[in-house]
Amino acid sequence: MMMMKNNNNNLLSKIASGNGHGEESPYFDGWKAYDSDPFHTTNNPHGVIQMGLAENQLSFDLVRDWVKRNQSASICTIEGVDEFKDIAIFQDYHGLPEFRNAVANFMEKVRGNKASFDPNRIVMSGGATGAHETVAFCLANPGEAFLVPIPYYPGFDRDLRWRTGVQLLPIHCESSNGFKVTREAMEKAYEKAQEDNIRVKGMLITNPSNPLGTILDRDTLRTIVRFINEKNIHLIADEIYAATVFSKPSFVSISEIIEEEEQNKIECNKDLIHIIYSLSKDMGFPGFRVGIIYSYNDEVVNCARKMSSFGLVSTQTQHLIAAMLSDDMFVNHFLSESARRLAIRHKLFTNGLSQVGIECLQSNAGLFLWMDLHKLLKNQTNEAEMELWRVIIHDVKLNVSPGSSFHCPEPGWFRVCIANMDDHTMKVALTRIRSFVMKNKELTLVVPNKKKCWQSDLKLRLSLSRSRRFEHDFMMSPHSPMPHSPLVQARN
Ligand SMILES: Cc1ncc(COP(=O)(O)O)c(C=O)c1O
Repeated sequence: MMMMKNNNNNLLSKIASGNGHGEESPYFDGWKAYDSDPFHTTNNPHGVIQMGLAENQLSFDLVRDWVKRNQSASICTIEGVDEFKDIAIFQDYHGLPEFRNAVANFMEKVRGNKASFDPNRIVMSGGATGAHETVAFCLANPGEAFLVPIPYYPGFDRDLRWRTGVQLLPIHCESSNGFKVTREAMEKAYEKAQEDNIRVKGMLITNPSNPLGTILDRDTLRTIVRFINEKNIHLIADEIYAATVFSKPSFVSISEIIEEEEQNKIECNKDLIHIIYSLSKDMGFPGFRVGIIYSYNDEVVNCARKMSSFGLVSTQTQHLIAAMLSDDMFVNHFLSESARRLAIRHKLFTNGLSQVGIECLQSNAGLFLWMDLHKLLKNQTNEAEMELWRVIIHDVKLNVSPGSSFHCPEPGWFRVCIANMDDHTMKVALTRIRSFVMKNKELTLVVPNKKKCWQSDLKLRLSLSRSRRFEHDFMMSPHSPMPHSPLVQARN
Protein backbone atom coordinates (compact mmCIF):
# COMPACT_ATOMS: atom_id res chain seq x y z
CA MET A 1 0.00 0.00 0.00
CA MET A 2 2.81 2.37 1.04
CA MET A 3 4.69 1.41 -2.11
CA MET A 4 1.67 2.29 -4.23
CA LYS A 5 1.38 5.67 -2.55
CA ASN A 6 5.04 6.46 -3.25
CA ASN A 7 4.60 5.41 -6.85
CA ASN A 8 1.58 7.62 -7.20
CA ASN A 9 3.50 10.54 -5.76
CA ASN A 10 5.95 10.23 -8.61
CA LEU A 11 3.30 9.65 -11.24
CA LEU A 12 0.84 12.38 -10.34
CA SER A 13 1.04 16.14 -10.29
CA LYS A 14 2.00 18.04 -7.14
CA ILE A 15 -1.60 19.20 -6.86
CA ALA A 16 -2.96 15.66 -7.00
CA SER A 17 -0.52 14.23 -4.50
CA GLY A 18 -0.41 17.23 -2.13
CA ASN A 19 -2.77 18.27 0.67
CA GLY A 20 -3.77 21.66 -0.71
CA HIS A 21 -7.43 20.77 -0.43
CA GLY A 22 -7.18 20.64 3.33
CA GLU A 23 -9.25 17.48 3.73
CA GLU A 24 -6.59 15.80 5.82
CA SER A 25 -7.08 17.92 8.88
CA PRO A 26 -8.60 17.16 12.29
CA TYR A 27 -11.38 19.61 11.46
CA PHE A 28 -13.07 17.02 9.27
CA ASP A 29 -13.31 14.53 12.13
CA GLY A 30 -16.48 16.31 13.14
CA TRP A 31 -18.15 15.15 9.97
CA LYS A 32 -16.77 11.70 10.43
CA ALA A 33 -18.37 11.54 13.87
CA TYR A 34 -21.64 12.84 12.44
CA ASP A 35 -21.57 10.51 9.42
CA SER A 36 -21.06 7.46 11.58
CA ASP A 37 -23.81 8.34 14.08
CA PRO A 38 -26.23 10.93 12.65
CA PHE A 39 -28.98 12.23 14.93
CA HIS A 40 -32.55 11.35 13.96
CA THR A 41 -35.56 12.36 16.06
CA THR A 42 -37.00 8.86 16.27
CA ASN A 43 -34.47 6.44 14.76
CA ASN A 44 -31.35 7.76 16.50
CA PRO A 45 -32.24 10.34 19.18
CA HIS A 46 -28.81 10.03 20.84
CA GLY A 47 -26.84 10.54 17.65
CA VAL A 48 -24.56 13.42 16.74
CA ILE A 49 -26.32 16.66 15.75
CA GLN A 50 -24.84 18.41 12.75
CA MET A 51 -24.04 21.98 13.75
CA GLY A 52 -21.12 22.39 11.39
CA LEU A 53 -23.15 23.15 8.27
CA ALA A 54 -23.91 26.77 7.38
CA GLU A 55 -27.15 26.01 5.58
CA ASN A 56 -30.30 28.09 5.49
CA GLN A 57 -33.19 25.66 5.75
CA LEU A 58 -35.62 27.73 7.80
CA SER A 59 -37.72 29.03 4.89
CA PHE A 60 -37.83 26.10 2.52
CA ASP A 61 -41.60 25.82 2.81
CA LEU A 62 -41.87 29.16 0.98
CA VAL A 63 -39.71 27.92 -1.90
CA ARG A 64 -41.68 24.68 -2.09
CA ASP A 65 -44.95 26.58 -2.37
CA TRP A 66 -43.52 28.76 -5.13
CA VAL A 67 -42.32 25.72 -7.09
CA LYS A 68 -45.76 24.16 -6.81
CA ARG A 69 -47.42 27.36 -8.04
CA ASN A 70 -44.96 27.86 -10.91
CA GLN A 71 -44.69 24.56 -12.67
CA SER A 72 -43.75 26.15 -15.99
CA ALA A 73 -40.45 27.26 -14.46
CA SER A 74 -39.34 23.65 -14.63
CA ILE A 75 -38.84 22.45 -18.20
CA CYS A 76 -39.57 18.89 -17.10
CA THR A 77 -43.28 19.47 -16.45
CA ILE A 78 -46.21 19.49 -18.87
CA GLU A 79 -46.44 23.27 -18.36
CA GLY A 80 -42.77 23.90 -19.11
CA VAL A 81 -41.85 21.23 -21.63
CA ASP A 82 -42.22 23.47 -24.68
CA GLU A 83 -39.09 25.28 -23.59
CA PHE A 84 -37.13 22.08 -23.01
CA LYS A 85 -35.27 22.09 -26.32
CA ASP A 86 -34.25 25.76 -26.29
CA ILE A 87 -32.98 25.52 -22.75
CA ALA A 88 -31.21 22.22 -23.29
CA ILE A 89 -29.20 23.44 -26.29
CA PHE A 90 -28.30 26.89 -24.96
CA GLN A 91 -24.58 27.03 -24.18
CA ASP A 92 -23.47 30.66 -24.31
CA TYR A 93 -21.13 31.41 -21.40
CA HIS A 94 -22.68 34.86 -20.98
CA GLY A 95 -25.68 33.07 -19.50
CA LEU A 96 -29.38 33.55 -20.23
CA PRO A 97 -30.15 37.29 -20.39
CA GLU A 98 -33.20 36.81 -18.15
CA PHE A 99 -30.98 35.07 -15.59
CA ARG A 100 -28.47 37.91 -15.51
CA ASN A 101 -31.23 40.51 -15.26
CA ALA A 102 -32.98 38.66 -12.45
CA VAL A 103 -29.74 38.16 -10.49
CA ALA A 104 -28.74 41.84 -10.88
CA ASN A 105 -32.19 42.90 -9.60
CA PHE A 106 -32.01 40.45 -6.74
CA MET A 107 -28.57 41.72 -5.73
CA GLU A 108 -29.99 45.26 -5.65
CA LYS A 109 -32.99 44.21 -3.60
CA VAL A 110 -30.85 42.35 -1.06
CA ARG A 111 -28.80 45.53 -0.67
CA GLY A 112 -31.89 47.64 0.01
CA ASN A 113 -31.78 49.17 -3.52
CA LYS A 114 -28.95 51.39 -2.32
CA ALA A 115 -26.61 50.30 -5.12
CA SER A 116 -27.16 49.31 -8.72
CA PHE A 117 -25.86 46.29 -10.58
CA ASP A 118 -25.31 46.05 -14.32
CA PRO A 119 -26.50 42.67 -15.75
CA ASN A 120 -23.62 42.84 -18.25
CA ARG A 121 -21.13 42.54 -15.42
CA ILE A 122 -22.73 39.41 -13.97
CA VAL A 123 -20.38 36.48 -14.55
CA MET A 124 -21.52 33.08 -13.37
CA SER A 125 -19.55 30.40 -11.67
CA GLY A 126 -19.94 27.09 -9.82
CA GLY A 127 -20.98 28.61 -6.49
CA ALA A 128 -18.95 31.19 -4.61
CA THR A 129 -16.29 28.47 -4.40
CA GLY A 130 -15.64 28.62 -8.15
CA ALA A 131 -16.07 32.41 -8.16
CA HIS A 132 -13.28 32.89 -5.61
CA GLU A 133 -10.88 30.71 -7.52
CA THR A 134 -11.66 32.44 -10.81
CA VAL A 135 -11.04 35.86 -9.31
CA ALA A 136 -7.81 34.66 -7.70
CA PHE A 137 -6.68 33.38 -11.12
CA CYS A 138 -7.53 36.75 -12.68
CA LEU A 139 -5.77 38.89 -10.08
CA ALA A 140 -2.69 37.08 -8.82
CA ASN A 141 0.22 34.91 -9.90
CA PRO A 142 1.48 31.89 -7.94
CA GLY A 143 3.36 33.05 -4.84
CA GLU A 144 1.53 36.41 -4.67
CA ALA A 145 -0.82 37.03 -1.77
CA PHE A 146 -4.15 38.32 -0.48
CA LEU A 147 -4.56 39.70 3.02
CA VAL A 148 -7.50 38.21 4.91
CA PRO A 149 -8.85 39.23 8.34
CA ILE A 150 -8.86 36.29 10.75
CA PRO A 151 -10.94 34.37 11.71
CA TYR A 152 -12.07 33.42 8.18
CA TYR A 153 -14.04 30.67 6.41
CA PRO A 154 -11.73 27.60 6.14
CA GLY A 155 -12.79 26.93 2.53
CA PHE A 156 -10.81 30.00 1.43
CA ASP A 157 -7.60 28.01 1.88
CA ARG A 158 -8.88 25.61 -0.75
CA ASP A 159 -10.74 28.03 -3.01
CA LEU A 160 -8.16 30.77 -3.39
CA ARG A 161 -4.92 28.88 -2.78
CA TRP A 162 -5.05 25.26 -3.82
CA ARG A 163 -4.93 25.29 -7.61
CA THR A 164 -3.76 28.90 -8.09
CA GLY A 165 -0.64 28.79 -5.89
CA VAL A 166 -1.72 32.10 -4.32
CA GLN A 167 -1.06 32.71 -0.61
CA LEU A 168 -3.41 34.03 2.07
CA LEU A 169 -1.84 36.18 4.79
CA PRO A 170 -3.68 36.93 8.04
CA ILE A 171 -4.82 40.34 9.24
CA HIS A 172 -5.03 39.88 13.01
CA CYS A 173 -8.35 40.79 14.60
CA GLU A 174 -9.12 40.48 18.31
CA SER A 175 -12.11 39.66 20.45
CA SER A 176 -11.44 42.72 22.66
CA ASN A 177 -13.01 44.97 20.02
CA GLY A 178 -15.39 42.42 18.47
CA PHE A 179 -12.82 41.28 15.86
CA LYS A 180 -12.87 44.70 14.17
CA VAL A 181 -10.76 45.13 11.03
CA THR A 182 -8.57 48.10 11.91
CA ARG A 183 -6.29 50.19 9.73
CA GLU A 184 -3.42 49.35 12.07
CA ALA A 185 -3.95 45.60 11.64
CA MET A 186 -4.12 45.95 7.85
CA GLU A 187 -0.89 47.98 7.80
CA LYS A 188 0.85 45.44 10.01
CA ALA A 189 -0.11 42.55 7.74
CA TYR A 190 0.97 44.50 4.66
CA GLU A 191 4.33 45.44 6.21
CA LYS A 192 4.95 41.87 7.33
CA ALA A 193 4.39 40.68 3.74
CA GLN A 194 6.87 43.27 2.49
CA GLU A 195 9.45 42.16 5.03
CA ASP A 196 8.94 38.59 3.84
CA ASN A 197 9.27 39.69 0.22
CA ILE A 198 5.75 38.61 -0.69
CA ARG A 199 3.86 40.72 -3.19
CA VAL A 200 0.40 41.59 -1.88
CA LYS A 201 -2.13 41.73 -4.72
CA GLY A 202 -5.27 42.31 -2.72
CA MET A 203 -7.40 41.96 0.35
CA LEU A 204 -10.33 39.61 0.85
CA ILE A 205 -13.20 40.52 3.16
CA THR A 206 -16.34 38.56 4.07
CA ASN A 207 -19.30 40.78 4.86
CA PRO A 208 -21.35 39.58 6.73
CA SER A 209 -18.64 37.46 8.26
CA ASN A 210 -18.47 33.70 8.40
CA PRO A 211 -17.77 32.68 11.18
CA LEU A 212 -18.53 35.83 13.23
CA GLY A 213 -22.04 36.63 12.01
CA THR A 214 -21.20 40.34 12.22
CA ILE A 215 -21.28 42.98 9.52
CA LEU A 216 -18.63 45.51 8.60
CA ASP A 217 -19.79 49.02 9.45
CA ARG A 218 -19.67 51.94 7.02
CA ASP A 219 -16.54 53.49 8.56
CA THR A 220 -14.62 50.24 8.44
CA LEU A 221 -15.60 49.70 4.81
CA ARG A 222 -14.47 53.23 3.94
CA THR A 223 -11.18 52.63 5.74
CA ILE A 224 -10.68 49.43 3.78
CA VAL A 225 -11.45 51.12 0.46
CA ARG A 226 -8.94 53.86 1.24
CA PHE A 227 -6.33 51.35 2.32
CA ILE A 228 -6.55 49.30 -0.87
CA ASN A 229 -6.53 52.48 -2.99
CA GLU A 230 -3.41 53.79 -1.27
CA LYS A 231 -1.61 50.49 -1.68
CA ASN A 232 -3.05 50.02 -5.18
CA ILE A 233 -4.19 46.49 -4.45
CA HIS A 234 -7.48 44.71 -5.19
CA LEU A 235 -10.42 44.23 -2.88
CA ILE A 236 -12.51 41.06 -3.10
CA ALA A 237 -15.73 41.39 -1.09
CA ASP A 238 -17.52 38.11 -0.36
CA GLU A 239 -21.13 39.16 0.28
CA ILE A 240 -22.78 35.78 0.09
CA TYR A 241 -24.50 36.24 3.48
CA ALA A 242 -25.95 39.67 2.56
CA ALA A 243 -29.60 38.65 3.04
CA THR A 244 -28.99 36.81 6.31
CA VAL A 245 -28.84 40.11 8.23
CA PHE A 246 -31.82 39.78 10.56
CA SER A 247 -31.66 42.88 12.75
CA LYS A 248 -30.17 46.36 12.93
CA PRO A 249 -27.67 47.67 11.98
CA SER A 250 -28.51 47.12 8.30
CA PHE A 251 -26.13 45.56 5.86
CA VAL A 252 -23.82 47.93 3.98
CA SER A 253 -22.45 46.57 0.72
CA ILE A 254 -19.12 47.59 -0.73
CA SER A 255 -21.10 48.60 -3.82
CA GLU A 256 -22.91 51.22 -1.74
CA ILE A 257 -19.62 52.60 -0.40
CA ILE A 258 -18.05 53.04 -3.82
CA GLU A 259 -21.19 54.73 -5.18
CA GLU A 260 -21.09 57.11 -2.19
CA GLU A 261 -17.38 57.81 -2.62
CA GLU A 262 -18.09 58.64 -6.25
CA GLN A 263 -20.89 61.05 -5.32
CA ASN A 264 -18.67 62.69 -2.70
CA LYS A 265 -15.92 62.99 -5.31
CA ILE A 266 -13.54 60.92 -3.19
CA GLU A 267 -10.99 59.19 -5.36
CA CYS A 268 -11.67 55.49 -5.57
CA ASN A 269 -10.39 53.22 -8.30
CA LYS A 270 -13.38 51.00 -9.08
CA ASP A 271 -11.17 48.75 -11.21
CA LEU A 272 -9.82 47.35 -7.95
CA ILE A 273 -13.17 46.16 -6.59
CA HIS A 274 -14.78 42.74 -7.11
CA ILE A 275 -17.83 41.24 -5.39
CA ILE A 276 -18.42 37.53 -4.88
CA TYR A 277 -22.05 36.49 -4.57
CA SER A 278 -23.99 33.22 -4.52
CA LEU A 279 -27.46 31.87 -3.83
CA SER A 280 -26.13 29.21 -1.47
CA LYS A 281 -26.86 31.11 1.73
CA ASP A 282 -29.35 33.91 1.02
CA MET A 283 -31.77 31.59 -0.79
CA GLY A 284 -30.52 28.34 0.77
CA PHE A 285 -29.60 26.74 -2.58
CA PRO A 286 -26.05 25.43 -2.22
CA GLY A 287 -26.93 22.49 -4.44
CA PHE A 288 -27.73 24.69 -7.45
CA ARG A 289 -24.15 26.00 -7.52
CA VAL A 290 -25.15 29.51 -8.52
CA GLY A 291 -22.09 31.68 -7.94
CA ILE A 292 -21.57 35.21 -9.22
CA ILE A 293 -18.51 37.33 -9.89
CA TYR A 294 -19.41 41.00 -10.09
CA SER A 295 -16.35 43.03 -11.01
CA TYR A 296 -16.16 46.76 -11.73
CA ASN A 297 -13.07 46.05 -13.85
CA ASP A 298 -13.82 45.36 -17.55
CA GLU A 299 -10.74 43.20 -18.07
CA VAL A 300 -11.59 41.06 -15.07
CA VAL A 301 -15.17 40.68 -16.33
CA ASN A 302 -13.85 39.54 -19.72
CA CYS A 303 -11.27 37.13 -18.38
CA ALA A 304 -13.58 35.72 -15.69
CA ARG A 305 -16.30 35.17 -18.31
CA LYS A 306 -13.90 33.16 -20.47
CA MET A 307 -12.83 31.16 -17.43
CA SER A 308 -16.45 30.58 -16.48
CA SER A 309 -16.53 27.85 -19.15
CA PHE A 310 -14.98 25.64 -16.45
CA GLY A 311 -17.86 26.13 -14.05
CA LEU A 312 -21.05 27.28 -15.74
CA VAL A 313 -24.42 27.14 -14.03
CA SER A 314 -26.65 24.70 -15.89
CA THR A 315 -29.16 26.43 -18.16
CA GLN A 316 -31.99 24.52 -16.52
CA THR A 317 -31.02 26.07 -13.18
CA GLN A 318 -30.61 29.52 -14.75
CA HIS A 319 -34.10 29.22 -16.22
CA LEU A 320 -35.69 28.25 -12.91
CA ILE A 321 -33.79 30.90 -10.93
CA ALA A 322 -34.65 33.60 -13.50
CA ALA A 323 -38.35 32.86 -13.05
CA MET A 324 -38.16 32.69 -9.26
CA LEU A 325 -36.08 35.82 -8.72
CA SER A 326 -38.22 37.83 -11.17
CA ASP A 327 -41.26 37.23 -8.98
CA ASP A 328 -41.03 40.39 -6.88
CA MET A 329 -43.82 39.46 -4.52
CA PHE A 330 -42.26 36.11 -3.74
CA VAL A 331 -38.76 37.56 -3.32
CA ASN A 332 -39.90 40.39 -1.03
CA HIS A 333 -41.85 38.00 1.15
CA PHE A 334 -39.07 35.41 1.20
CA LEU A 335 -36.41 37.94 2.21
CA SER A 336 -38.42 39.44 5.06
CA GLU A 337 -39.73 36.10 6.31
CA SER A 338 -36.31 34.45 6.14
CA ALA A 339 -34.77 37.30 8.17
CA ARG A 340 -37.63 37.09 10.69
CA ARG A 341 -37.15 33.35 11.19
CA LEU A 342 -33.38 33.70 11.48
CA ALA A 343 -33.86 36.38 14.14
CA ILE A 344 -36.17 34.10 16.17
CA ARG A 345 -33.78 31.16 15.91
CA HIS A 346 -30.83 33.33 16.89
CA LYS A 347 -32.65 34.74 19.91
CA LEU A 348 -33.83 31.36 21.15
CA PHE A 349 -30.37 29.90 20.95
CA THR A 350 -28.40 32.80 22.41
CA ASN A 351 -30.92 33.22 25.27
CA GLY A 352 -30.78 29.51 26.02
CA LEU A 353 -26.99 29.59 26.15
CA SER A 354 -26.74 32.73 28.20
CA GLN A 355 -29.00 31.22 30.90
CA VAL A 356 -26.22 28.73 31.63
CA GLY A 357 -23.48 31.32 31.39
CA ILE A 358 -22.40 30.80 27.78
CA GLU A 359 -21.96 33.99 25.79
CA CYS A 360 -21.65 34.47 22.07
CA LEU A 361 -20.15 37.31 20.09
CA GLN A 362 -22.93 39.83 19.56
CA SER A 363 -24.09 39.36 15.98
CA ASN A 364 -26.96 40.21 13.65
CA ALA A 365 -26.31 38.08 10.56
CA GLY A 366 -25.28 34.67 9.30
CA LEU A 367 -26.50 31.15 9.89
CA PHE A 368 -24.36 30.55 12.99
CA LEU A 369 -23.18 31.81 16.35
CA TRP A 370 -19.62 32.44 17.44
CA MET A 371 -19.67 30.85 20.88
CA ASP A 372 -17.13 31.77 23.53
CA LEU A 373 -16.01 28.80 25.62
CA HIS A 374 -12.55 30.04 26.50
CA LYS A 375 -13.33 29.80 30.21
CA LEU A 376 -13.84 26.08 29.80
CA LEU A 377 -10.33 25.50 28.47
CA LYS A 378 -7.76 23.84 30.70
CA ASN A 379 -5.32 26.43 29.44
CA GLN A 380 -5.51 29.04 26.72
CA THR A 381 -4.00 27.02 23.87
CA ASN A 382 -5.19 25.50 20.60
CA GLU A 383 -4.48 22.05 22.03
CA ALA A 384 -6.87 22.70 24.91
CA GLU A 385 -9.44 23.96 22.42
CA MET A 386 -9.17 20.72 20.45
CA GLU A 387 -9.50 18.74 23.67
CA LEU A 388 -12.73 20.53 24.55
CA TRP A 389 -13.94 20.13 20.96
CA ARG A 390 -13.47 16.35 21.19
CA VAL A 391 -15.58 16.29 24.35
CA ILE A 392 -18.31 18.28 22.61
CA ILE A 393 -18.33 15.96 19.61
CA HIS A 394 -18.01 12.62 21.34
CA ASP A 395 -19.72 13.19 24.69
CA VAL A 396 -22.17 16.02 24.10
CA LYS A 397 -22.63 14.76 20.54
CA LEU A 398 -22.72 18.04 18.70
CA ASN A 399 -20.64 18.67 15.63
CA VAL A 400 -19.58 22.27 16.15
CA SER A 401 -16.45 23.74 14.54
CA PRO A 402 -13.38 24.80 16.55
CA GLY A 403 -12.14 28.38 16.12
CA SER A 404 -8.66 27.21 15.16
CA SER A 405 -10.06 25.81 11.91
CA PHE A 406 -11.05 29.41 11.05
CA HIS A 407 -7.49 30.57 11.91
CA CYS A 408 -8.89 32.31 14.97
CA PRO A 409 -5.95 33.88 16.84
CA GLU A 410 -7.53 33.25 20.27
CA PRO A 411 -8.44 29.77 21.52
CA GLY A 412 -11.85 28.90 22.93
CA TRP A 413 -14.20 30.08 20.18
CA PHE A 414 -16.54 27.67 18.39
CA ARG A 415 -18.85 28.19 15.41
CA VAL A 416 -22.30 26.75 15.97
CA CYS A 417 -24.64 26.54 12.97
CA ILE A 418 -28.27 27.05 13.89
CA ALA A 419 -30.27 27.29 10.66
CA ASN A 420 -29.80 23.80 9.19
CA MET A 421 -32.19 22.00 11.53
CA ASP A 422 -35.84 21.96 12.58
CA ASP A 423 -37.11 23.39 15.89
CA HIS A 424 -37.09 20.05 17.66
CA THR A 425 -33.47 19.26 16.78
CA MET A 426 -32.50 22.77 17.82
CA LYS A 427 -34.11 22.25 21.22
CA VAL A 428 -32.34 18.91 21.70
CA ALA A 429 -29.01 20.57 20.82
CA LEU A 430 -29.63 23.40 23.24
CA THR A 431 -30.64 21.00 26.01
CA ARG A 432 -27.47 18.99 25.47
CA ILE A 433 -25.20 22.03 25.74
CA ARG A 434 -27.04 23.30 28.78
CA SER A 435 -26.93 20.02 30.64
CA PHE A 436 -23.27 19.56 29.72
CA VAL A 437 -22.51 22.82 31.45
CA MET A 438 -24.89 22.25 34.38
CA LYS A 439 -23.77 18.69 35.04
CA ASN A 440 -20.27 19.67 35.85
CA LYS A 441 -19.88 19.43 39.60
CA GLU A 442 -17.40 22.25 39.99
CA LEU A 443 -19.41 24.76 38.08
CA THR A 444 -20.05 27.89 40.07
CA LEU A 445 -22.64 29.70 38.11
CA VAL A 446 -23.63 33.21 38.90
CA VAL A 447 -26.36 35.26 37.27
CA PRO A 448 -28.44 34.01 34.44
CA ASN A 449 -29.73 37.56 34.03
CA LYS A 450 -26.48 39.40 34.17
CA LYS A 451 -25.34 40.63 30.77
CA LYS A 452 -21.76 39.40 30.71
CA CYS A 453 -21.90 35.98 32.24
CA TRP A 454 -18.26 35.31 31.46
CA GLN A 455 -17.27 38.09 33.81
CA SER A 456 -18.82 36.11 36.61
CA ASP A 457 -16.86 33.68 38.72
CA LEU A 458 -17.22 30.71 36.47
CA LYS A 459 -14.98 27.80 37.25
CA LEU A 460 -15.41 24.76 35.17
CA ARG A 461 -13.11 21.85 34.93
CA LEU A 462 -13.86 19.43 32.23
CA SER A 463 -14.05 15.78 32.78
CA LEU A 464 -11.80 14.68 30.00
CA SER A 465 -11.40 11.01 30.79
CA ARG A 466 -13.82 9.97 28.12
CA SER A 467 -12.42 12.27 25.53
CA ARG A 468 -9.01 10.73 25.96
CA ARG A 469 -10.47 7.46 24.80
CA PHE A 470 -11.07 9.15 21.49
CA GLU A 471 -7.59 10.56 21.28
CA HIS A 472 -6.30 7.49 19.52
CA ASP A 473 -9.04 7.56 16.88
CA PHE A 474 -8.52 11.23 16.46
CA MET A 475 -4.81 10.95 15.86
CA MET A 476 -5.33 8.17 13.37
CA SER A 477 -8.25 9.59 11.50
CA PRO A 478 -6.58 11.85 8.96
CA HIS A 479 -5.36 8.69 7.27
CA SER A 480 -8.35 6.50 7.81
CA PRO A 481 -11.01 6.05 5.15
CA MET A 482 -14.21 8.00 5.67
CA PRO A 483 -17.67 6.58 5.11
CA HIS A 484 -18.58 9.60 2.97
CA SER A 485 -16.21 12.20 1.73
CA PRO A 486 -16.76 15.28 3.88
CA LEU A 487 -15.88 17.53 0.95
CA VAL A 488 -19.39 18.65 0.23
CA GLN A 489 -20.14 19.70 3.76
CA ALA A 490 -16.70 21.18 4.19
CA ARG A 491 -17.64 23.98 1.81
CA ASN A 492 -19.74 25.53 4.48
C1 LIG B 1 -17.82 33.01 3.24
C2 LIG B 1 -18.11 31.91 2.28
N1 LIG B 1 -17.73 32.05 1.00
C3 LIG B 1 -17.96 31.08 0.11
C4 LIG B 1 -18.61 29.91 0.45
C5 LIG B 1 -18.89 28.87 -0.60
O1 LIG B 1 -20.20 29.01 -1.06
P1 LIG B 1 -20.82 28.21 -2.30
O2 LIG B 1 -21.66 27.11 -1.75
O3 LIG B 1 -21.66 29.21 -3.04
O4 LIG B 1 -19.69 27.71 -3.12
C6 LIG B 1 -19.03 29.71 1.76
C7 LIG B 1 -19.71 28.49 2.19
O5 LIG B 1 -19.93 28.23 3.32
C8 LIG B 1 -18.78 30.75 2.71
O6 LIG B 1 -19.17 30.63 3.98
